[in-house]
Amino acid sequence: MLSAVEIKSPEQIEKMRATCRLAAKVLEFIRPHVVPGVTTGQLDKLCHDFILDHGAYPAPLNYKGFPRSICTSVNEEVCHGIPGNRVLREGDIVNLDITTILDGYHGDTSDMFLVGEVSDEARKLVEVTRESMWRGIRAVRPGGRIGDIGAAIYAFAHGEHGYGVVEAYCGHGIGREFHMPPQISHVGQEGRGRRLKPGMTFTIEPMINTGSPECRVLDDGWTAVTIDGGLSAQTEHTVLVTEDGVEVLTLRSDETPPGP
Ligand code: MF3
Ligand code: CO
Ligand code: CO
Repeated sequence: MLSAVEIKSPEQIEKMRATCRLAAKVLEFIRPHVVPGVTTGQLDKLCHDFILDHGAYPAPLNYKGFPRSICTSVNEEVCHGIPGNRVLREGDIVNLDITTILDGYHGDTSDMFLVGEVSDEARKLVEVTRESMWRGIRAVRPGGRIGDIGAAIYAFAHGEHGYGVVEAYCGHGIGREFHMPPQISHVGQEGRGRRLKPGMTFTIEPMINTGSPECRVLDDGWTAVTIDGGLSAQTEHTVLVTEDGVEVLTLRSDETPPGP
């Protein structure tokens, strides 16, 4: 039996807007710091302090034992990379995943960063991953189905580009809790799954691999990597289902809202 999906009240939606706006601001703030020579631990510290300075708390810190405030996933790392002494090098691609808790509500967003000049293969993977997320977002409409989202992502990333779409990790409902129902698969079937209703908030966060979609978790208990050592990329937004479409709650100033 699937548990119910929360429909947020107007007051809750305002709180979601505020925390998501802050999470987006963290990604804007950190961008100029992601350069060759910086460590993932330094990026974590900068984001940690920025979040606290804005009256919020970093949700990953101590979440199920996660030891840092953000996730940093480099190259073949799919997600949940732990910040530390790793130095970012020219040519790396890295996902920074930010989750804020402001006034009790979670905002979750991530983006890819290119460290200096990167290979054409890496750049194309990042561009296709971002576009696949946007295709998923544009599939959200009241009365639509959750499966429409993954179907749009899969058709683009795998169907058009031949990439592996990770199935082991999904998007999720979000609010007072970090991870709530519903689960949002990035490999869906159009017209299948729960019906989308105004007031639902959830993330869309496809992980796309150049090779196999399969992952394994390193001995640190967190870092997921591609099974074949191929590159992986991910981008994430938190969205709200509205009366006539979708609102991207973690939209940054460099991004265009999805049209009708
Ligand atoms: N931010 C991740 C997500 O998008 C979850 C990170 S859990 C952590 O769902 F413990 F690794 F931080
Ligand atoms: Co998420
Ligand atoms: Co996230």
